[in-house]
Parts: sequence; C-alpha cells; structure tokens
Amino acid sequence: MALLLIVPISLVTLWLGYTLYQRLRFKLPPGPRPWPVVGNLYDIKPVRFRCFAEWAQSYGPIISVWFGSTLNVIVSNSELAKEVLKEHDQQLADRHRSRSAAKFSRDGKDLIWADYGPHYVKVRKVCTLELFTPKRLESLRPIREDEVTTMVESVYNHCTTTGNLGKAILVRKHLGSVAFNNITRLAFGKRFVNSEGVMDEQGVEFKAIVENGLKLGASLAMAEHIPWLRWMFPLEEGAFAKHGARRDRLTRAIMTEHTEARKKSGGAKQHFVDALLTLQDKYDLSEDTIIGLLWDMITAGMDTTAISVEWAMAELIRNPRVQQKVQEELDRVIGLERVMTEADFSSLPYLQCVIKEAMRLHPPTPLMLPHRANANVKVGVPTREVP
Ligand code: HEM
Repeated sequence: MALLLIVPISLVTLWLGYTLYQRLRFKLPPGPRPWPVVGNLYDIKPVRFRCFAEWAQSYGPIISVWFGSTLNVIVSNSELAKEVLKEHDQQLADRHRSRSAAKFSRDGKDLIWADYGPHYVKVRKVCTLELFTPKRLESLRPIREDEVTTMVESVYNHCTTTGNLGKAILVRKHLGSVAFNNITRLAFGKRFVNSEGVMDEQGVEFKAIVENGLKLGASLAMAEHIPWLRWMFPLEEGAFAKHGARRDRLTRAIMTEHTEARKKSGGAKQHFVDALLTLQDKYDLSEDTIIGLLWDMITAGMDTTAISVEWAMAELIRNPRVQQKVQEELDRVIGLERVMTEADFSSLPYLQCVIKEAMRLHPPTPLMLPHRANANVKVGVPTREVP
C-alpha cells in the first residue's frame, strides 16, 4: 500500500518543486499571491481590465497574474507599454495560441495568431504596404459611406413605422448590420444582404460559420489555463476539422467567383480578396494564409467597431450636455442640407474627442491580444523579468 502511494506523492512533490523553482528563478513582477494549481484564477473579478487596474494600484504598474500555471505580466503605464511594444517588440510579439486558436489559424499561418518571425514580418508588410494604404482605404470609402447611409435610413424607417413611434430602438442591431456589411464588402467584396434586408445563401452560411467558430472557441476556455488537466477537456478534433473545411469551402467559392470576374473584366477591384489574390505570387502567400488573413479581418473588424460605437452612443445618452455639443458642432459644420462624409472628420474636433473618450472608457479590446515572450526580457525600473 505504502509503495502504491510513493509514486503519486513523488510526482506531486516533483511537480510542486519544479513550479516553485520556476517562480523563484526569475525576478518576477509583484502581484496577488497565487494558489497552487489555479494560480489567481479565483481572484480575478469579472471585468478583468478593471480588476488588473485595481491590482496595479496596490502592486505597481507591472504585475504578475497567474492563470492556472500560466504567468501573465500586465503593464499599465505608457512608459512600460512603450518598452514592451517598441523597444522589446521582437522578443515580445509572439502569440499564446490556445488549442482552438491553433486550429483556426492552422498554427499561426494567418496574421493575428502568427509568432514574430519571417512569416509575421511578410504578412504585416502585405497589410501596411498593400491592404491598409491610404489610397486603398480612400477607394473603399464609398462602401463605408453607403453602409452608414443605409443604416441611417433603416433607423429612420424603423422609428417612423406606425407602432414604433416613441418606443426604444435596439441600436446594437443596426450597428451590427453596418459592421457586418462593411467588413464582408471590404474583405470578400460581397454584400450578402439585399436592399430588402434578405440574406442570400452564402451570407447565411457565412453567419453560421462565424457563430460556430465562437461556440467552438469558447468551449475550451477554462481548460486552457491548466495544461495538465486538458485530458479532461479533449479537443473536439472532428468538430474543428468540419468547421475548418466549411470555412475553406465558402472562402474558396468566393475566391473563385472573383478570379473569374477578374478574368472577364481584366481588372482587379480594391477589396481584400482581389488584392490578396493578385499579390499572391509577389509575396508568396499560401492559400492558408490568404484564407487566414481574410478571416482575421472579419473576426478583428466586426464586433470591435460595432461595440465601440454602441458604447459611444450609450455615453452620449448618459451625458445630454455632451450630446447637445456634438449636435451643435454637426449643425454648424455640416448644416442641414447634406449628409456628413468621412472627409468632414478633420473639421469636427469635438466629435473626435467624444470618440476618443468613449474608447478610453470602454475599449473593446482593453487587454489587447496578449503577446507572448520568446526570450527572457527585462523591463521596468526596478528591473523585472518576463520569462
Ligand atoms: C474599434 C475598432 C478596433 C479596435 C479597438 C481594434 C483593436 C485591436 C488590438 C488591440 C489589436 C491587438 C494588437 C496587438 O496585438 O499588438 C488588434 C489587432 C488586429 N486588428 Fe484590430 N481593432 C479594431 C478594428 C479592426 C478592423 C476594422 C480590422 C480589419 C479590417 C482590424 C484588424 C486587425 C488585425 C489584422 C490585427 C492583428 C495585427 C497583428 O497581430 O499584428 N482591427 N486590433
């Protein structure tokens, strides 16, 4: 009997010893005391970035927080942010890919989940020199303005419909539609919804893929932090493979449509599918990377924009004085005879301040996308280590 106990006890002691050694080996930033196995998971309050801000008040601007057995270092002032994102950029720009992120991104063949290295540098170059150039963004401006005008019309129609007069309106629904149509037109060069608001077959499939992706990604969240407990939460290999195949099938069908349209017309359009397909040879982009990049834009650009505007609207409603000042500025600069365009932004300083303040109060990605260290990096004064 005693012999039977020796093996598990030795294993646990070894594991505890190794964990302790890891924690003492480095001069880690201070932080709340972690519990064995779960670390600080049970101390983290629901609005995570507010909880970290509270801890920063007690422990300083650089803190250690343990998600299970994974160390997270959080910096919360601009000097440290500059050190982390600019000075040590190359050592701190890898990604921690959860098992689902690794599946979705084919192990970082896209941009969001790519580690720092030749692939990342190449794909960032494609984004800065080709996709997000002022020229391309300007030529895509009609899409954005068209979608915003359509939204204003649909809000107007909704509010003036008999029975809706004086009733509350679900702003999120309208913002969600603009974000959806904007991003699908930008990335896929397609509007899946017709002028009557009816979604076509590809659109329905697209939406189902987005929803299924969210469901699959969320299902593993807890198990990710305690690696040795993962056997209890096995990855649904079949479901991920099916999801990946479905996503590729739809994207390939859209890519083929665009390739055929280009052959017929002899010219490429400005949206990202055409851009990436015509740049494929120049930058040696694999099909996985093109599909990954297109879906990166969808996942990164849809909810972020809708959530930002929804919060800005909520803050305006909560602050009627500010709302009135925005309206006065719009009436003075734009007047009542025409619709505002993106070119007007530079003449609307108060509106710009309102947007920045709304994003400061309610950042849609307050903790950014965590970066992972690929080397032992020293930051801050007094020096702390990020292993
Ligand atoms: C209010 C709107 C948005 C916010 C707040 C936001 C915020 C962020 C943040 C915090 C990151 C992580 C940066 C990092 O890891 O250092 C990120 C990455 C990214 N975002 Fe956005 N984003 C917004 C809109 C968009 C849109 C509209 C697109 C595309 C059309 C987009 C595409 C991307 C991509 C591709 C990345 C990965 C960049 C990389 O890993 O180097 N985002 N975004």
